[in-house]
Amino acid sequence: TTDPEVPTTGAFDVSTIVKNHRVHGSVYTSPEIFHREMETIFRTGWVYVAHESEVAEEGDYLTRRIGRDPVVVSHGKDGVIRVLLNRCSHRANRLCNAESGNATSFRCPYHGWTFSNDGSLMAVPMRGGYGEEFAKVREQLGMAEAPRVDSYGGFVFASLAPEGISLKEHLGAAMGAIDRVLDLSPTGKIDLSRGWMKHHHHANWKMVVENNVDGYHALFTHASVYDAIRPAKVSHVPAKVKTVVRDLGGGHSEIDYSAEYRKLDEEFVWYGRIPRAKLPEYVEALEAAHGPEKTHDALVVGPAHTLIWPNLFLAEMNVMYVEPIATDETIAYTAAVVIPGQEKLNQRTMRRSEGAMGPAGFLIADDGEIGMRNQAGLAARNPEWLELSRGLETDVTDETGIVNSDKSAETPQRGFYRQWASVVGQEIPAS
Ligand code: FES
Repeated sequence: TTDPEVPTTGAFDVSTIVKNHRVHGSVYTSPEIFHREMETIFRTGWVYVAHESEVAEEGDYLTRRIGRDPVVVSHGKDGVIRVLLNRCSHRANRLCNAESGNATSFRCPYHGWTFSNDGSLMAVPMRGGYGEEFAKVREQLGMAEAPRVDSYGGFVFASLAPEGISLKEHLGAAMGAIDRVLDLSPTGKIDLSRGWMKHHHHANWKMVVENNVDGYHALFTHASVYDAIRPAKVSHVPAKVKTVVRDLGGGHSEIDYSAEYRKLDEEFVWYGRIPRAKLPEYVEALEAAHGPEKTHDALVVGPAHTLIWPNLFLAEMNVMYVEPIATDETIAYTAAVVIPGQEKLNQRTMRRSEGAMGPAGFLIADDGEIGMRNQAGLAARNPEWLELSRGLETDVTDETGIVNSDKSAETPQRGFYRQWASVVGQEIPAS
């Protein structure tokens, strides 16, 4: 078999590679498709880049990627958080090479041009070494900026396209997932500045992302974990209480335990069922801020398990985002959600996060291995298609989205690839 031909410019009829419940193998291996993804998903839509808590002070900066475009997220001296393209306007050198720091300016290592942390060209070396023509264009030689930057709940998103839907329109129902984690903070804010755990996956970025809302794999991929914790955990949730999966639209999707938890009406089930008496200062602060009723509800329901298209995942008290590097290479970054002022809780959360998602984390190590094996299996060209259905099409559309009461259903994946197909086929200009 040969892969369907994929043009790198112009429009593209994606129905040759994505059907209702099937995805062609080349979706994960084709350099042309990867190119289209970078040009469409990552160059036209909203992409998560950073959290405000990471650049809280003037001068704070960090380096990230939007697709393959390197960027500096910079808190300028004027107080504005910008997403600057990490490229010198002289001969394109990558200006900032540190992962994060605090600086008033960035100096290019090649010929020494210096840019302010608001992106403007501040200084050039060699007094008298520039002619009149240079003076005329100098003002235009600042670092380029992502034309649209916006945030919700401290999560900063950027779009490299000057026009398009607003961030709120993009987030849609997924805003509720951000609200759920903020509801667990007495200040209404969270902190993601304690550092990110970085995992280099030998897998296509989509495999890494959509695995997070795959309710089917856990009992197999993570079997050893469940074997280890089963004696302590098995009685927590009655089997008859159903967890649902939901396609929230726009590529966002979730595994939703909230109904399950509400029926139990027990606080901290999502946090290993610790008694509230173990964290009295935290609960008191939450009640003082939100009142007893909202506090009880927040502690019963807990944070969400939601994928925010295309690259952000809220996994209870973890946040993960991914950067696609190549068809078979992805970096996933995970941080623990820290609640400002609640150090006792935070120490627990960070240890839990390291245990699951750290370098030897029991969940991410399993998922990394599976992703690598998926990618290795794709080297075989037959069968051509991957299946996103088991013939149990019991999805129901209601006011919350497309819901399946079987948490192992591939409803989130179908929503993910529906969005993927609607974006990747769009017109890509020739230049
Ligand atoms: Fe940056 Fe020349 S490439 S100063």
